[in-house]
Amino acid sequence: MQKTFKSPEESRVVLSMLMLPSHANFSGKIHGGHILSLIDQIAFACASKHSNNYCVTASVDVVDFLAPIEVGELVTLKATVNYVGRSSMVVGIRVDAENIQTGKSKHCNSSYVTMVAKDAEGTTDAVPGLKLANPTNVRRFCREIRRKELKKSTTVEINRNDYTDSTYLEDLKSHNVEILL
Ligand SMILES: CC(C)(COP(=O)(O)OP(=O)(O)OC[C@H]1O[C@@H](n2cnc3c(N)ncnc32)[C@H](O)[C@@H]1OP(=O)(O)O)[C@@H](O)C(=O)NCCC(=O)NCCS
Repeated sequence: MQKTFKSPEESRVVLSMLMLPSHANFSGKIHGGHILSLIDQIAFACASKHSNNYCVTASVDVVDFLAPIEVGELVTLKATVNYVGRSSMVVGIRVDAENIQTGKSKHCNSSYVTMVAKDAEGTTDAVPGLKLANPTNVRRFCREIRRKELKKSTTVEINRNDYTDSTYLEDLKSHNVEILL
């Protein structure tokens, strides 16, 4: 079968939503969980468009909430496929919130969600390759390769089994804990 390639533009998704009082927490700011849910939904839409398949969320990397979002602000999420492997796709999502009256916009979040395409039997399925037609496409793809490498090495470091309990206890000395063992 001939290999197909799609550009990130073909599966780009933009979603704008007004933030309602029902989305707010007790201090009147929008729940982080509501934004996470929107991120997951737009990642699904974008990855499904690229793969023409149903997709599942495999992982979410980096969710830093850079600025609070207020009730009444217009939130816009922009999603593009930044990287593809065989069955996985990393969708980059940028979240901005705009004050409707002043028109002032703030960057609230950038997240990277790995989605995996599955066929009707629930088996992981190959996705089209990615066309890299400009330096931004190339930079984003290469950053995901690097992010994957860093994640792998961080996981190996955290799971090192040459770390003993006494090493952990030593590390904890400068932290805000009372050790009861
Ligand atoms: C994610 C999942 C599909 C991986 O399945 P698997 O049997 O381990 O499949 P594989 O090892 O062949 O991995 C498939 C792809 O997923 C990627 N992958 C698996 N786990 C991953 C993770 N934690 N983070 C990023 N990518 C991951 C692999 O790198 C691989 O990518 P590639 O095909 O592009 O090379 C499977 O664990 C799953 O279905 N998880 C539940 C997903 C879900 O229900 N999400 C919603 C939660 S409510």
